[in-house]
Amino acid sequence: MSDFSIRLIEWQRKHGRHDLPWQGGHDPYRIWLSEIMLQQTRVETVIPYYERFLARFPDVAALAAAPVEDVMALWSGLGYYARARNLHRAARVVMDAHGGAFPRSAAAIAGLPGIGRSTAAAIAAFAWGERAAILDGNVKRVLCRVFGIEGFPGDKAVETRLWALAESLLPERGIGRYIQAQMDLGATLCTRARPACARCPFHDDCVARRDGRVAALPTARPKKVVPRRGARCAVILHQGAVLLERRPPAGIWGGLLALPELPAEVDDAQAWSAQRFGLATAAPRPLAPLTHAFTHFVLELQPLLLHASAIQGLADDGALCWLPLGAHAEAALPAPVRRILDGLAAPGLFDEGAPARGA
Ligand code: ADE
Repeated sequence: MSDFSIRLIEWQRKHGRHDLPWQGGHDPYRIWLSEIMLQQTRVETVIPYYERFLARFPDVAALAAAPVEDVMALWSGLGYYARARNLHRAARVVMDAHGGAFPRSAAAIAGLPGIGRSTAAAIAAFAWGERAAILDGNVKRVLCRVFGIEGFPGDKAVETRLWALAESLLPERGIGRYIQAQMDLGATLCTRARPACARCPFHDDCVARRDGRVAALPTARPKKVVPRRGARCAVILHQGAVLLERRPPAGIWGGLLALPELPAEVDDAQAWSAQRFGLATAAPRPLAPLTHAFTHFVLELQPLLLHASAIQGLADDGALCWLPLGAHAEAALPAPVRRILDGLAAPGLFDEGAPARGA
């Protein structure tokens, strides 16, 4: 589309935002402050913070001279506090390394703490009309939809393609208005949810709209495939109590009391229980399996119910204990163990020969 920037600039003239407190001037300090505050934060939220901040720190020298605590206090409530710490650090760099003058190109601005390529370009474009492309979340969304670009924009290859496209679309003149137009279109019409396509200047050319892919673009971040791990645990009951074993300090539920876990290679749970604990048990019966999500994997746990008829010779190295059922509510137990024991409250399960739940 050869006239992308012209159409966008025209649209901004008529329908864009023109009265925001950081618009109209060319002071890089004020523009920088607005761009940092506007990262991940809505315009309406930013405005009062912006005005208070400027009243207290009217220029980069005042900001650099202030204690960081004062800066943080004025930022309080705006969130993402690393932004404030970097802003303060960058003000000191401007004073110490640049003699108090803001660096004069997007590339140099991007060398300051907390300023990425897109923010540096926006500052240079607004302050001095430098022809530099921006690519924030809003611009990515607009480009992916209008040009039908598939793939998660956070992927390096997709991002590289988007930067090249953004560079190729830059107008010869009117860069400041063009940058503002991109921001305005993404924030007011080409929104993530329920975009106002009927009012969009690219209504007739947008690939996503033509192909019915507006809701699908930009492509969402791929879901992480979470590995699944299977394990079996023994629910050994004797006279209304369940056998618990303290877990080793490392690994899941480190140091907590839990149901004994059967080693993967064990085929015969009854023989294992006899050998491991010195317990005579009836044949095992499976209970309803359950899953539990950890940060890095999903545990699929299969409980096996074993009624112990005699506990003489219980091999106890200090890591084992019998917990009376009913007392488990107060014990510090991992959530899935608690769920299994809650399920044992069903009548009849205490008696050998009773039907097992979920078997
Ligand atoms: N979001 C980021 N920069 C902005 C700006 N200059 N105006 C409005 N919203 C913005």
